[in-house]
Amino acid sequence: MNIINGKKIAQDLKADIANRVAKLDRKPGLAVILVGDDPASSVYVRNKDNACKEVGFYSEKINKPANITQNELLAEIKRLNNDDKIDGILVQLPLPKHLDTNQVIETISPKKDVDGFHSENIGKLMQNKPHFRPCTPKGVMTILATIGINLVGKNCVVVGASNIVGRPMAIELLNAQATVTICNSKTQNLATKLQQADVIVVAIGVAKMIQGTWIKKGAVVIDVGMNPLDNALVGDVDFDAAKKVAKWITPVPGGVGPMTIATLLENTLMAYHLRKEK
Ligand code: GUN
Repeated sequence: MNIINGKKIAQDLKADIANRVAKLDRKPGLAVILVGDDPASSVYVRNKDNACKEVGFYSEKINKPANITQNELLAEIKRLNNDDKIDGILVQLPLPKHLDTNQVIETISPKKDVDGFHSENIGKLMQNKPHFRPCTPKGVMTILATIGINLVGKNCVVVGASNIVGRPMAIELLNAQATVTICNSKTQNLATKLQQADVIVVAIGVAKMIQGTWIKKGAVVIDVGMNPLDNALVGDVDFDAAKKVAKWITPVPGGVGPMTIATLLENTLMAYHLRKEK
């Protein structure tokens, strides 16, 4: 069993980005918008802002009250679309219920959509002509490449079908020529499906849901879950049981989380170069 050190892979990626940024004549700029004060979202946004500073980016952390109107939020995004210092725009999700998330995402310029959530970028990923790729699935692909997993013909099971992780993750694996099964909270006989899997990616948001006995010996287990439990953070996989059967497994914390942030920086640097070229 090998525990995947996502923090180290992310640090190496950030060091590479910092070296490249040091040679640029303008700092790549990222704007991160947080609506309301959800504690988990506040931590994620702070981590993203700190990561920008670490690699020498310009960053704007924009806090808006939970009762902001749809039009006020769209106006802020349009302002950032036209701000030359800003290469990437990220609106932290989930948004308060009264806001139309889809319209918010579609208002971000596809050229600054470093989350890769705009329909234009998701469409390109679906067509296997990727442009901006969602950060968590792309970060998982970097992890799999770094540990030397060849995905061609492998049985991959994705547990979770969200727009942020599960769906784009399944398409990433398909684009890498894996055979992909997508499960969701209603899937029957999940254990049987997982027992066939060479690679498992779990993003379902239920603490320790995936049991060790559901995992094939020698499988790669990627846990995207981040669930508060007894004053700690745990993943969607029962780590202590799973690590006994898996060949490779990500811990929580210190696995996928740091890679999401490093990949956001990677996408922002890409947005900078593409904007400069035009
Ligand atoms: N909420 C959870 N993950 C993400 C992410 O990758 N991007 C944004 N914008 N919100 C999130």
